[in-house]
Amino acid sequence: MNDNAKLFTDGQAYERVMGRWSQLVATQFLDWLGLPNGLSWVDVGCGNGAFTEILIDRCAPASVTAVDPSEGQLEYARTRPGTKSAQFRVGDAQALPFGNAEFEAAAMALVISFVPDPAKAAAEMARVVRPGGWAATYMWDVEGGGLPTSPMYRAMKLLGLPYVTPPGSVNSRMEAMQGFWQRAGLRGIETRVIRIPVTFANFDDYWESNILLVGPLGQALARLPAAERERLKNHLRETLPAAPDRTITHEAFANAVKGQVPG
Ligand SMILES: C[S@@+](CC[C@H](N)C(=O)[O-])C[C@H]1O[C@@H](n2cnc3c(N)ncnc32)[C@H](O)[C@@H]1O
Repeated sequence: MNDNAKLFTDGQAYERVMGRWSQLVATQFLDWLGLPNGLSWVDVGCGNGAFTEILIDRCAPASVTAVDPSEGQLEYARTRPGTKSAQFRVGDAQALPFGNAEFEAAAMALVISFVPDPAKAAAEMARVVRPGGWAATYMWDVEGGGLPTSPMYRAMKLLGLPYVTPPGSVNSRMEAMQGFWQRAGLRGIETRVIRIPVTFANFDDYWESNILLVGPLGQALARLPAAERERLKNHLRETLPAAPDRTITHEAFANAVKGQVPG
């Protein structure tokens, strides 16, 4: 498992921090792909199955094979009520454990920034999809401030707290993702920005949802001395805009790219 994959090992914590937001993007992403029901899919970097579940619900696939390097995440993915029909197995996006042209569609949701060699991952997706099939991906626009956790990152920077840069930020830029798809030889490439509301019931829900020990931010927060964490919490409580019903909402946005395997 590479170091970035080790950031995600707890499927349940991941669900609260990120999985539910991935699912909101997934819905729009799959509508945008507009592929017919009944295809054979591979879900690359499936993690805790957040995307897999929406894929099965919306696309009625003939089959879904889902891979991730983290056995802890896969364990959670297998328990989801909506993923019973999927086959989960350990695998790396840069060396997919499949033969050529085994699938009709490949998707990789919120993974490209964590893969050391994204061009290789794109080439692998193109290799395992049959001619005429589709490969597609989405990733939060990390550099543009599109992460659901961006307000927390901004606050840490402002307060001068040890700042972690989300990994592979540059690879989440639209031009970068488009470039990986072009270099993989995919055709008819299209891109799109997908925007979602990220809503928390109140400030406590916001805080508790974001400090779980998962992902680069969760791990950075865990390393902060208690007093610094409290300073960050107070700053956020004062500055995050809350609605009259105490809910806290901001917008997250992801870049998406799709392309067809030449036939
Ligand atoms: C942010 S999570 C996305 C999970 C899921 N696809 C979703 O939409 O919620 C990133 C995932 O990428 C996986 N990952 C990291 N490096 C990887 C690699 N080299 N190949 C495949 N997956 C990788 C992690 O284990 C983690 O599950």
